Formats: sequence, C-alpha cells, structure tokens
Amino acid sequence: MIRKIISVALSAMFSLSGVCSCTAKPTVETKNDIDMKTDGKKLVVFFSHAGENYNVGVIEKGNTRIIADMIADAVGADRFEIVPAKPYPVNYNECIEVAKDEKQSGARPAINGDVKIEDYDVIFLGYPNWWGEMPMCVYTFIEQHDWTGKTVIPFITHEGSGMGGTDRKIANACKGADVAVCKGLAVQGKIAQEQQEVAGENVDKWLSKLGF
Ligand SMILES: Cc1cc2nc3c(=O)[nH]c(=O)nc-3n(C[C@H](O)[C@H](O)[C@H](O)COP(=O)(O)O)c2cc1C
Repeated sequence: MIRKIISVALSAMFSLSGVCSCTAKPTVETKNDIDMKTDGKKLVVFFSHAGENYNVGVIEKGNTRIIADMIADAVGADRFEIVPAKPYPVNYNECIEVAKDEKQSGARPAINGDVKIEDYDVIFLGYPNWWGEMPMCVYTFIEQHDWTGKTVIPFITHEGSGMGGTDRKIANACKGADVAVCKGLAVQGKIAQEQQEVAGENVDKWLSKLGF
C-alpha cells in the first residue's frame, strides 16, 4: 500500500513537471502478444545509474544492472554497459535536473566504448525510466548502430511509470530491427534492488513466455 502511494506520488510529480504522461504500474508487468525470434547469439545492452536514487537510497549496483545481469545469466548472453563519457551526478536531485535538461534539448551525450551489434541476433536493451523516456545516452548508442535484421527486446526499471511507451520509441529509433513492442519487461526499481528473488522469478517467467 505504501509502495503504491509512493509510486503514484512519483508519477504525479513527474507528470506535473510536464515531461511524463505515464500511468502508474508499480510492480512487474509482462506482456506477450506477438511472435518473435529467440535463436542466435544474444547480447544484453544496458544503461544503469548507481548512486543516490528515488525510493532506494544510495545504491552500489543500479536497478537496471541487476535485471540485466539476471537476463544475461539466464539466456547466456554477452553484456555491454552504456557508459556516458561525462558521468551523471551521483546526487539524485542534481541527476534529475541534468536528465530533464537532456530530454528537453534532445541531447545525445557522448558515450565511452562500443560493441559490434553486427555480431548478434537478439539484443536485450535495458534502461531506467527517466522522465517517462529512455535516458538520452541510450539514444546515442542506438543511433550509432545499424539495427537491420536484429531482434530487439526492451526492458526497463521504474518507480511507477512502467515502460512509458519507450518500447515504441525503440521501434522508431532502431531502424530495420524487429522490436518486441509490448513484450518488454518493466520491473519496479525497488523490487529489483530489494526483492531480488521476486524480480528473478519475474524475469524467468517473462523469458520463458518469450520462448527462451
Ligand atoms: C533522472 C531520473 C528520472 C526518473 N524519472 C522517472 C519517471 O519518470 N518515472 C518513474 O517511474 N521513475 C523515474 N525515475 C526512477 C527510476 O526509473 C528508477 O529508480 C530506476 O529503477 C533506476 O534504475 P537504475 O538504478 O538502473 O538507474 C527516475 C529516476 C531518475 C534518476
């Protein structure tokens, strides 16, 4: 009950700021309504931000990273972390301001390192919900690759806004890919961080429904 109140309050806060119009989905959601490719070489690409965060205090391992590791371990995927060249602030209030500015200006912050997605068939793409969007550094990664023929499966962690329509944004941004829109996984960050058994069960259930 308390978690629900917090989630709704958070969603309201982000909505009032005029940059997110998402609905509150406080726990784990799975959707499974279209067929997709599961064979071939697999990669988990993710962005995750450790430090101070909403609802979980100061964390050493980001919420999305926890889910990314679960997926990679379960399906035997390689993993690649999107690392911004200029780190986001550790302080939560500073971080949300930077993220808001980046979203509003459509920034494409530089990132360190890269991975040859050409070598993979199925790519899980994970990120936190930031202002009802993917963090802009995820767009930087997406836009520097050719996604033709790839199967892309989104996953997100959040504190009330769920997928927030980011699966459809990925479908637009990953040109040429078969994006598993409406089959992504949304996990509440606090559950990923503090109830890993529950989160792990949901990851396994989701992967199994997808055919992995
Ligand atoms: C900059 C910023 C913006 C956020 N915006 C939202 C939001 O719009 N909706 C939401 O449900 N959660 C929002 N959150 C909470 C994160 O989505 C959530 O804590 C997520 O699990 C963080 O994942 P990470 O630890 O992998 O970075 C935001 C957090 C930050 C830091």
